[in-house]
Amino acid sequence: MTGEIEFDEMLDVSSLKGVGDVTAKKLREAGINTIQDLMLYSPIYISELTGIPVERAEKLVLQAYERLKDLGLAPPDFASASDIMERRKARKYITTGSHNLDELLKGGVATQAVTEFYGEFGSGKTQICHTLAVNVQLPEEQGGLGKGAIYIDTENTFSPDRITEIAYHRGLDPNEVLKRIIVGTPYNTVILLNMVKKLPELIKKYDVGFIAIDSAVGPFRAEYLGRGRLSERQQLLNRFMHDLVRIAEVYDVAVVITNQVQERPDVIFGDPTKPIGGHVVAHAVTYRIYLKKSKRPNLRIASIIDSPEHPPGEAVFAITEKGVTDPED
Ligand SMILES: Nc1ncnc2c1ncn2[C@@H]1O[C@H](COP(=O)(O)OP(=O)(O)O)[C@@H](O)[C@H]1O
Ligand SMILES: [Mg+2]
Repeated sequence: MTGEIEFDEMLDVSSLKGVGDVTAKKLREAGINTIQDLMLYSPIYISELTGIPVERAEKLVLQAYERLKDLGLAPPDFASASDIMERRKARKYITTGSHNLDELLKGGVATQAVTEFYGEFGSGKTQICHTLAVNVQLPEEQGGLGKGAIYIDTENTFSPDRITEIAYHRGLDPNEVLKRIIVGTPYNTVILLNMVKKLPELIKKYDVGFIAIDSAVGPFRAEYLGRGRLSERQQLLNRFMHDLVRIAEVYDVAVVITNQVQERPDVIFGDPTKPIGGHVVAHAVTYRIYLKKSKRPNLRIASIIDSPEHPPGEAVFAITEKGVTDPED
């Protein structure tokens, strides 16, 4: 019992050297309560958030990093390839509901990673997010993590009815499943970015293993129109994407973002199969999956794009009343 309390104290920002009551208060007001939270941001950003000078913020981040390594909660700076393999093995996977799609992803949607599903309207992005929000709650032996979900719904397409239906078909109590999905509906990118800052707290409070952001890139495109605002947009998007990557890694959760393809009639030579967001999104996400419709109305084709770990490949899956399944189910 006492061991537990001591451990928690070691993770509190106030346990760091040089953090008195005033600094601790500034950090907490910025939503930084633990040393893990401190690892989410750059010193410059921490300084912006709290008013603490950048050099001090830098020292705090380094101190937090050393502490996490001592506690075995962060990997060492340098590691042998076999140690890296061990850490990767600690990665867990949530089943998508389709064996074909799981196989393409080498086991399902991974924790410690940001997986992007992109494709045109109706390609199945929202259905995948709904199914994963249910499946994460399954016990590990059934392909889940036995954990809850956070669903950030920027397009107002989250459907509790659909969750109920999917849960019912997977033998879960729909009411229990609904209780374990925390839904955020940001009206604009300022609120969206603020919600991302609150994620660490919510992950701990609700024991979350999966986060969906449906859609993630759309709101930035909608608000920052025109060439003149492109660099501003890409800067915000960059911070947003990096926060998501850090959260996935630090808290061992699976993050899924959805994205549209470019379908702007004014860009005649634009590739209609390319996701929006440019290099910023391309470089930040761990895995990119392109979803296409097929001739059969309930079947979809998923392709893995530019993965360092996966050979190029495709998988066919179905969308039914059960959510995502294999075509023959
Ligand atoms: N209850 C359901 N039963 C079967 N298929 C469904 C159900 N709900 C949605 N779908 C299928 O999912 C498709 C919509 O996919 P969706 O994930 O919303 O697309 P996206 O988010 O990529 O625009 C619909 O065209 C339909 O084929
Ligand atoms: Mg959708």
